[in-house]
Amino acid sequence: GIKVFRSVKDVREYRLQCTLRGESVGFVPTMGALHEGHCSLIKESLNNNDVTIVSIFVNPSQFSPTEDLDAYPRTLDCDLELLSVLKNDRDEEENSSRKVNAVFVPTVSEMYPSGISLDVNEQKGAFVSVLGVSGQLEGRMRPQFFRGVATVVTKLFNVITPTKAYFGQKDIQQTVVVKNLVKDLLLPIEIVVLPTIREKSGLALSSRNSYLSENARDDAAIIYKALHLAELEYYNNNEVTDSLELLKIIDNVLKDYTDGTKGNYDIDYVSINHPKTLDTLDKITPGVGAIISTAIKVPNGHGDFTRLIDNVVLK
Ligand code: PAJ
Repeated sequence: GIKVFRSVKDVREYRLQCTLRGESVGFVPTMGALHEGHCSLIKESLNNNDVTIVSIFVNPSQFSPTEDLDAYPRTLDCDLELLSVLKNDRDEEENSSRKVNAVFVPTVSEMYPSGISLDVNEQKGAFVSVLGVSGQLEGRMRPQFFRGVATVVTKLFNVITPTKAYFGQKDIQQTVVVKNLVKDLLLPIEIVVLPTIREKSGLALSSRNSYLSENARDDAAIIYKALHLAELEYYNNNEVTDSLELLKIIDNVLKDYTDGTKGNYDIDYVSINHPKTLDTLDKITPGVGAIISTAIKVPNGHGDFTRLIDNVVLK
């Protein structure tokens, strides 16, 4: 069966056994409230490693005092149930089906021995910053965010010492931060990035979608429609390498949802950036490509706003 570890000591001991058996270890860090997006990462890990370890930890240091740390969905029993039925799906493995071997569910005090304060000025202990790619886009709106992510991912990598670790394109800047983290801290871990899993409507799956009413969720499909239309224009019309033109297309699709006709979306940013440096691009060079990303606060149908992010990558 699936092993659940609560302490750093116990999961380290388990990892040591894997090392002694010469097993490769795939790792999928999550904050729980698992959905098909998480599952696709886990399946890929099951397909490509002897052992798969998933972590579930709602990491306080990546939330600001005004964000949804307390409200963030915590569904551990459901998550463990879901994890226990996942299998690898490569045909050649038919007779030796692999399942998630272990789940690491640490407490906050296990992960932050010096304690943790949401107020950045009150914090004690060791933190990891990945300079150069943490200040744009999500990092501009949420200054504490990538320091929190880089810190917890470093701690988790230190404990699990995975062979490979799996991340979703959904959080594209996070993948850039983590790739730079392993490069600059000389960690011998391969970072694998997998495509965003979407609802039929196109809406990117997210644990935060659970904050949305059914109507709000249907409406939010417009976000990917807008990004996808710009993506199509880039590929179908070789002339269009001008960021402004693509941003205009997106603006136009979202217009009814920002001007009150159909909704009152509050756009944090829609931006076109270099895929590695995250510099803002006025022009896109085919072959180098770009990220078109957005963050939008949408009315969630319960009298409040929910902040959604999405992106498409141009080649
Ligand atoms: P969380 O939001 O739970 O996401 C865990 C992983 O699942 C991330 O790599 C994320 O990009 C991926 N993911 C989420 N939605 C996805 C989707 N629709 N399609 C594909 N992948 C998807 O990201 C975090 O947690 C945290 O920041 C973490 C890395 C665990 C550090 O605390």
